[in-house]
Amino acid sequence: MIYNLFEEIEHQGYYSIRQRVCHEIYDLVFDSIALRVGINLTSRNTMARKELLSFILNMGDDEFSVLTVKKHRTVQKEIALEIECILRKYYRQYIDKPFCFSDDHSQGYPCFSWRIVRPFKNDIGHVHYDDWFRQKGITTDVPPYSMYKTLKIWIPIESTPERTNLVVFPFSHKDVHSNSSDISDISIEMSKNYDRKMVKNKPLEPLVFDMNLLHVGSYNDTDMCRVSIEHELHVSV
Ligand SMILES: [Fe+2]
Repeated sequence: MIYNLFEEIEHQGYYSIRQRVCHEIYDLVFDSIALRVGINLTSRNTMARKELLSFILNMGDDEFSVLTVKKHRTVQKEIALEIECILRKYYRQYIDKPFCFSDDHSQGYPCFSWRIVRPFKNDIGHVHYDDWFRQKGITTDVPPYSMYKTLKIWIPIESTPERTNLVVFPFSHKDVHSNSSDISDISIEMSKNYDRKMVKNKPLEPLVFDMNLLHVGSYNDTDMCRVSIEHELHVSV
């Protein structure tokens, strides 16, 4: 299992873990979203979550755009510490080397950020690779490349995998990215050299990928919001 994860990431740039993380992550992500938009979730059930998502769907685009800023979609400390505890146990099944969670913006606790993609809205951004944000100093938690391999992890929370999920460009992590100055132009140009593939991960099945892998969210043509959470993991080499 461990062998497969690292070998596949090295080979094609990503690996889908087809075992769900603990369902509590689902509730914790919705707790975090509710806290951010100022809604008091009366219970952790489907009805309450639907109400929260319909509140978000009724936001104007300007109001919603606040929720696209990474700082605003970053999970609050107490919730982040609970998520860390759950994921640490989960990843230990797959990773036999010491690892730690990235604190992307030096907040003093692990950085988990959720993302909401509304139906039929342009909420998905451009093709990109995440190491670019480290190269440009936007992500500040960058341990020595010689000592740690950083992995990106994306976990769908609420999604319809056959219709809308993350799109990756297999093998693109082997391309040379280091001279990229404009993330969107260069990444879009590079992505033309690779096939695009929408991953099949079901809700709560993590996708682990190389920081240099090109990827982009897919357009959401379903009638419900897609919700996901992502973070970075530093693994000792
Ligand atoms: Fe990304």
